[in-house]
Amino acid sequence: MQAQLIEAFRRARRDEGLVVLEGFHAVKHAVRFGAELVRVVAREDADLDALSARLAPDVVLDADRVDGDGFARLVPVPPRTGVVALARRPAQAVPAVRSSPAVLLEDPRDLSNVGACVRVAAAAGASAVLTTGAKDPWSPEALRGSAGLHFALPVVRLDDIDARPLLALDPEGEPPSAIPDDAILAFGTERDGLSDALLARADARIALPMRDGVSSLNLATAVSAVLYAWRLA
Ligand SMILES: C[S@@+](CC[C@H](N)C(=O)[O-])C[C@H]1O[C@@H](n2cnc3c(N)ncnc32)[C@H](O)[C@@H]1O
Repeated sequence: MQAQLIEAFRRARRDEGLVVLEGFHAVKHAVRFGAELVRVVAREDADLDALSARLAPDVVLDADRVDGDGFARLVPVPPRTGVVALARRPAQAVPAVRSSPAVLLEDPRDLSNVGACVRVAAAAGASAVLTTGAKDPWSPEALRGSAGLHFALPVVRLDDIDARPLLALDPEGEPPSAIPDDAILAFGTERDGLSDALLARADARIALPMRDGVSSLNLATAVSAVLYAWRLA
């Protein structure tokens, strides 16, 4: 049984139909936002009832149990809370109509950054997180960074998007005025920023003001600042 579970989690990391959830918070958020759990596994000493009572009384988990050695082999970084799960990856589409901004990450490289962007986008009420480039935004590392909040909004990788209004977030841009509810907010890759092609077709380039000497914000921090500027306005 333990060997089968280890193999199931190993295979799931390469299976595009499955999602690996690491830790109680990730499982909790996934359940709250409608995830279909395939398997929940807990370390034999993990007190899931106490975790639920303390952190999420609305989420009750029924888990298979493995010993500490087995648990340590389920995922690369075993979570402290002692629980991991597999869920079905939902079919998601780019929303055709937006009542809140969508975040577009152009070719992001750091999946934990992608996860942090998904987390703040879900919290602020963004309509979607869209990505371009080779990285899968549903990879286990991104899911860890989002604490399972990928299930709260569409997170979709696409080749390109031709939608407006397209606002490019660029340290060389102008200070923002009002951010339209239906905006696509485009953020560049961690090292090089937005591509010339995207900057050329943007309706506006907006900058978050920074004190002299600072060249840019971290990607997820920039996403956070803009979404909360929109939300609080
Ligand atoms: C780490 S930054 C990239 C830095 C890159 N050297 C540049 O100059 O754009 C990642 C992305 O965050 C956004 N960003 C970071 N700081 C920003 C700021 N002060 N104003 C607007 N966007 C910012 C931009 O979209 C940027 O492409």
